[in-house]
Amino acid sequence: MDELAGYFCLSTHSVERLNFRAKFKRDMPNPISTILLGRLAVAEKYQGYGLGESMLHEAIRKSKKIADSLGAATLIVHPISERAKLFYLKHGFSSSKSEKPMLFLSTFGVFSLTEKDLS
Ligand SMILES: CC(C)(COP(=O)(O)OP(=O)(O)OC[C@H]1O[C@@H](n2cnc3c(N)ncnc32)[C@H](O)[C@@H]1OP(=O)(O)O)[C@@H](O)C(=O)NCCC(=O)NCCS
Repeated sequence: MDELAGYFCLSTHSVERLNFRAKFKRDMPNPISTILLGRLAVAEKYQGYGLGESMLHEAIRKSKKIADSLGAATLIVHPISERAKLFYLKHGFSSSKSEKPMLFLSTFGVFSLTEKDLS
């Protein structure tokens, strides 16, 4: 039987401007349209082999495509733990001013993937 090694979930979302720092939200409407990375997880026995990183790159690639047609400004995630937060910070996400922990890609258009990754 096939086994589930990992998954992630994306949905359209919006966030009040006050949750972002001035530099990012300049000239943005309120609320700011975003894409939410709802859950990204790797089954314990598959952790540590690069699957989480690959899925995050795929989530960013898909989000970029969605943003190109819907106009979303960034990809956000609410990390479920300090460990998860470190994972996202390591992969280019930034902290926000939100009360509920929230990280976002401030460089949504220029994240560290090559054009080849995005095609
Ligand atoms: C966080 C999670 C998705 C990472 O998946 P993974 O497949 O184990 O991670 P990878 O093997 O792709 O690791 C990629 C890189 O991120 C690093 N990394 C992985 N987990 C990390 C963590 N918790 N903190 C900091 N860095 C981390 C790895 O060291 C690796 O870096 P390296 O290539 O320089 O060694 C996985 O541990 C998980 O599912 N955890 C439980 C659920 C969870 O916390 N999900 C986040 C929900 S918001």
